Amino acid sequence: MKNSEALPQTFDLVIKNVHLLTMDKKTHHQAYGLINDAAIAVLNGEISWLGQATDLPDIPCKNVVDGQGQFLSPGLIDCHTHLVFAGSRADEFEKRLNGMSYKEIAEQGGGILSTVNATREASFDELLALAETRVNTLMKEGVTCIEIKSGYGLNTETEIKMLKVAQALEQSFPVEIRRTFLGAHAVPPEFKNDPDGYIDYLITDTLPALVEQDLVDAVDGFCENIGFSTEQIKKLFDAAKKYNLPVKLHAEQLSDSGGTGLVIDMEGLSADHVEYLSEKDCIKLSHSVTIPVLLPGAFHSLSETQLPPIKILRELNVPMAIGSDYNPGSSPLCSLKLMLSLACTHFKLTPEESLLGVTCNAAKALGLDKVGALKVGYRADFCLWDIKHPAELSYTFGINPLTRMWIRGQTCFL
Ligand code: NIG
Ligand code: FE
Repeated sequence: MKNSEALPQTFDLVIKNVHLLTMDKKTHHQAYGLINDAAIAVLNGEISWLGQATDLPDIPCKNVVDGQGQFLSPGLIDCHTHLVFAGSRADEFEKRLNGMSYKEIAEQGGGILSTVNATREASFDELLALAETRVNTLMKEGVTCIEIKSGYGLNTETEIKMLKVAQALEQSFPVEIRRTFLGAHAVPPEFKNDPDGYIDYLITDTLPALVEQDLVDAVDGFCENIGFSTEQIKKLFDAAKKYNLPVKLHAEQLSDSGGTGLVIDMEGLSADHVEYLSEKDCIKLSHSVTIPVLLPGAFHSLSETQLPPIKILRELNVPMAIGSDYNPGSSPLCSLKLMLSLACTHFKLTPEESLLGVTCNAAKALGLDKVGALKVGYRADFCLWDIKHPAELSYTFGINPLTRMWIRGQTCFL
């Protein structure tokens, strides 16, 4: 329903006295799609009206909230996490500080495989309890939608366990969870020296089992010299397409391996990391539906120096999303709010680009509509921030400015 269309008889919720960061610049042309001195109204969990407070239609509403002049944004979307896992890799953090590289640790059987061992051993309930703490932590800083990958099971049984934990989280919390199958994350010990055999196993055993149990929204992989080749990933993606599952890829993280080109050709949702993305592939991205997802937490934690080609992407008007990549190895940083800051300080995104990265562009990276912006008909997922300027969301870290949050128009207790 457009603002101009017939208005309802009642609203369920009205938030008055707020500045709206609509993130909808097509309609509201100021930075952040800002509407100052605004109000927003909700009916049946959706935005029913928004605009200047003086234009708020005179419609009865039992629940009217005074926003006290604060800023209201869409709920934040973390479009790339690995938050279901057991164990810790603090020992590897120390090894890296003593000079060993992420790649060397992985090649010696540590890295992802060390988390695989811990995750295989953990019970469903143990994994769920760990994941609940992490979801709660993200939510406290305004996250209302989270993508969660499998990929620490690397066998059918444990991949199912991980994705069932991700599914159970939606029972514990009002957040939306998107579940991604990342079986092609590393070659497990059972298939050592036979990565092709492992890809075949994923295609013939794991993926059908997950589809059968309706556990997957998308299929991901790790395309890298320490992961899988483009040919191996293509085979897996062809299988995903047969189930009509969208694909996405960890691509160009440690080298220019051609993963982004592949995911674009397969009309995938996103290419994630992209530090080593070439100018040619930036141009290719600009003509595609695929969204680059920047992961400043991994860049930061691995002390990387190769920056993603932000300037080129910006000049080509490619929408850039940002995720926390929260995981025990490359990004043990469970904070999307911190990513806003790191995206600015490391990648030189503007605060506005950063916020777009965790709202409307993150929604695009997950193939979701009706979230990530304040628009009539969109889901009433809101964060109310006690800030004086929207750039404060990226500028400060440590003091949490989130004062209230709603998901589907319902207050969340933080
Ligand atoms: O996004 N690059 C591969 N996967 C993860 C790291 C996972 C891990 O180290 O456990 C990432 O950085
Ligand atoms: Fe990742």
